[in-house]
Amino acid sequence: MAPADQHKKVVKKAIKMKNPIEQLDCLPRHENRQTNDGEVISFETHWATHLSDSQSLWIFELFRANMFEFYSQSQWGWDPESKRTELFSTTSRYVLAKNEKGEAIGYTHYRFDVDHSSPVVYCYEIQVEEAYQQKGIGTMILQTLEKLAKSTEMEKVMATVFGFNHKSLGFFHKNDYTSDVSCPDENAGLDYLILSKRVI
Ligand SMILES: CC(C)(COP(=O)(O)OP(=O)(O)OC[C@H]1O[C@@H](n2cnc3c(N)ncnc32)[C@H](O)[C@@H]1OP(=O)(O)O)[C@@H](O)C(=O)NCCC(=O)NCCS
Repeated sequence: MAPADQHKKVVKKAIKMKNPIEQLDCLPRHENRQTNDGEVISFETHWATHLSDSQSLWIFELFRANMFEFYSQSQWGWDPESKRTELFSTTSRYVLAKNEKGEAIGYTHYRFDVDHSSPVVYCYEIQVEEAYQQKGIGTMILQTLEKLAKSTEMEKVMATVFGFNHKSLGFFHKNDYTSDVSCPDENAGLDYLILSKRVI
């Protein structure tokens, strides 16, 4: 089989899986679920199409709270309708992080995709409530995606980050993400970067 067909095939197979994260044991082990101040985090996995109305509302509102300023100053601008379509598309998958009270406090929206001929897990969104940032939760979520990518034969995890979102850039660099082959050249005048980390 030609490599391009093989890549499409593994992505299609991963998209069809009902719950690849739990099936392939990708969540952090219990002993690695503690925040740096001792709270134990639990996780839920969902297809976007199976989220409850209240979960969907919270996902969008956290996105708005964390990202409105960034999008407003970006070349893309703030476009809530197209973001809603993206967040809740049929291929969107979620990991939700919850605190000890059972309240959702962070999430990733990811998808399996072929990007520039590579099968990838694309981290479309990673959002943590402000009060829970800098406690290690983003790292737990990212490591889950990396394990998932490896277990489903994807080549890498990718993410798009605004060049002026220093917190997020610092977070991805700390987790060993570097400029992807598809990252716009710095002379291109674009205000975002594409980062990735190989898992094979
Ligand atoms: C980016 C984000 C998801 C990270 O999640 P988090 O739970 O805070 O991340 P963690 O606590 O696991 O890791 C944070 C690490 O990133 C690094 N980091 C954070 N800000 C940084 C900065 N400005 N410069 C350098 N490094 C930075 C720190 O080294 C920190 O590690 P430490 O705990 O050893 O100090 C979270 O900050 C967030 O939701 N931000 C707002 C939304 C956003 O920008 N999302 C990304 C869109 S691409």
